[in-house]
Amino acid sequence: MSALLPLLPAGRPALILAPMQDVTDLPFMGVIHRRGDPDLYYTEYFRVHRDSRPERHILRSIDENPTGRPVIAQMIGVDIPSLLRTARLLQAHPIAGIDLNLGCPAPIVCSKNAGGGLLRHPAQVDDILAALRAEITSVAFTVKTRLGFDAPEEFPRLLEVFARHRLDALTVHGRTVREMYRAAVHLDRIADAAARLPYPVFANGNVLSVRLARETAVRTAARGLMIGRGAIRNPWLFRQVRETWEGAAPFAPTLRDIHAYIRDLWDSTLRADGTETGHVGKMKRYLNFIGQGVWRDGREAFLGEIRRAQGEREFFAVCDRHLLSDEPFPPEPAQPALVDERSRRAEAVERGEPQPAPVLAPG
Ligand SMILES: Cc1cc2nc3c(=O)[nH]c(=O)nc-3n(C[C@H](O)[C@H](O)[C@H](O)COP(=O)(O)O)c2cc1C
Repeated sequence: MSALLPLLPAGRPALILAPMQDVTDLPFMGVIHRRGDPDLYYTEYFRVHRDSRPERHILRSIDENPTGRPVIAQMIGVDIPSLLRTARLLQAHPIAGIDLNLGCPAPIVCSKNAGGGLLRHPAQVDDILAALRAEITSVAFTVKTRLGFDAPEEFPRLLEVFARHRLDALTVHGRTVREMYRAAVHLDRIADAAARLPYPVFANGNVLSVRLARETAVRTAARGLMIGRGAIRNPWLFRQVRETWEGAAPFAPTLRDIHAYIRDLWDSTLRADGTETGHVGKMKRYLNFIGQGVWRDGREAFLGEIRRAQGEREFFAVCDRHLLSDEPFPPEPAQPALVDERSRRAEAVERGEPQPAPVLAPG
């Protein structure tokens, strides 16, 4: 039986915050906690190689976890002795499990055959899973994968490998590495995994709203929904999905609630040793997601102005101008024309590229 099962709710899909580098850290977990926890948190990935030691700032999100909910530590790497050593070290911390990243599309990661790059080598994945499964005995062992490297047709072969190992859960981001964040999510492939594997499967990709959560759950029959960017945009999403499944009307945030959320993010993520410019830059990365769907006169004017804001005063003046209102926050980011631009940005963020002052909608 999966060691995670006692942690998963009955009667509805489990809700899981996706691992996101430079986002799902200790302060962000606190911000989400204050608006409605998922059932399970994942850390951003620990980089594992011959000389690595678990990064201290990521360990803090485990050791000082303020949520009262379980957290799974994610690793990325390819060297088996180093992965085993790190798994041993991580098991000394209060984690519910250890996850292996098989999905990161960053070229620097893939070129070392780690993350999504490993999907080109199923036999190597097989060896790594066998070694880690034998090592990880005191907590759950989970894997987060994409459908393949080049094409979704690679997935059945990978499923054979996953089926050979007694994992405690498999998260499937329903795209290939090549598809990055752009393509539609192949829900049918996630459904194949959920039907085939004897342990829980978590569906991941574009769960941006209650509507899309329901659609993903129905079309995949997955045991859980892992949500990333949708939770940055709308930190009440876990609460809303839970309320909907319980038959209650979901909480409907207003733009004023979004203003308070942005203020909370600002205060929570502020670093004593940081600069104002640096902090505004960090906030703009969250705002790239939060601002989606805040429209006025047919334009995403809020995002355009935020992206040009120079310091704290200007940043909050823009927020005040657009968000001190009791209008509802749109449940979904509309305007498909912008989806490509957003996907391009998400890809650039994950590749670690600096984000230029963006130009979406002038003014
Ligand atoms: C900024 C950012 C950082 C990410 N970092 C990680 C990571 O550390 N580990 C990982 O497995 N996936 C990472 N991902 C991928 C997400 O976990 C998730 O699979 C992807 O965003 C699709 O889900 P979504 O549509 O709900 O965002 C990252 C994604 C983004 C946008």
